[in-house]
Amino acid sequence: MRNHAVNTNEFSFWYGNFQALKNLTFNISTSKITALIGPSGCGKSTFLKCLNRINERGGEVSHEGSIQVLGHDIYHPSVALPELRKQVGMVFQKPNPLPLTIYENVIFGARTHLKKVKNAELDMMVESALTRVGMWEDLKDKLNRPALGLSLEKQQRLCIARLLPLKPKLLLLDEPCSALDPAGIEAIEILTKDLKRDYSIIIVTHSMSQAKRVSDDTIFMYMGELIEMNKTTDLFNNPTEGRTAAYIEGRFG
Ligand SMILES: Nc1ncnc2c1ncn2[C@@H]1O[C@H](COP(=O)(O)OP(=O)(O)O)[C@@H](O)[C@H]1O
Ligand SMILES: [Mg+2]
Repeated sequence: MRNHAVNTNEFSFWYGNFQALKNLTFNISTSKITALIGPSGCGKSTFLKCLNRINERGGEVSHEGSIQVLGHDIYHPSVALPELRKQVGMVFQKPNPLPLTIYENVIFGARTHLKKVKNAELDMMVESALTRVGMWEDLKDKLNRPALGLSLEKQQRLCIARLLPLKPKLLLLDEPCSALDPAGIEAIEILTKDLKRDYSIIIVTHSMSQAKRVSDDTIFMYMGELIEMNKTTDLFNNPTEGRTAAYIEGRFG
């Protein structure tokens, strides 16, 4: 479907013999922010890592069912993983810039994935990506400084910026604020809401208040299953499942 960023259809996923995702069927809208909530270990990160297939880098994994990203079956044999990973960018809990300069971090993916990019184009990519995450004015004269010297919030912004030259369609944010102080959290939430203009976004969060502040839709998962998905306001105001109600009221998790 054209207005769906993601369609999953009876999708299950195993690490070896352990089934981490169970029969997931749901759609995620384009140009919205979808929050993924649920207790630790319920499969949130696993689901995100299925969307760009980075969980195939480790041990033995298998799946059943299908996932489409923007209408394309990502497990089809013709899928090129580097292309998929360009389209589906991911940011992790702990900011993980490379031990390189700010400039080299932003263009690292472009150097790896794109052929023959001219220096002037790289410069443009850096300006455009840092502008998009609200850091160009601050950093334009400091591009050769080490990225690891930035505050954690700015490192996380940089980790988002370095995805942008690859023109992603879907951004996956896996607890992107968990290492940040309240001011950093607010700044990243404002940025996330602004990025919705150009990207479909899925954010995993442990914070109910963050899910309420930033997301349009919310998915509640428990032990590998989708328990409930709804508009965020409806899910929090009128959960239809007892387990959703118990979780959002803080009775477990
Ligand atoms: N690489 C792995 N190998 C085996 N089991 C894993 C692996 N990664 C995660 N798991 C297991 O899969 C389940 C879901 O984990 P995860 O997706 O990280 O949950 P969440 O992000 O919701 O906390 C957990 O039981 C976890 O122990
Ligand atoms: Mg996780």
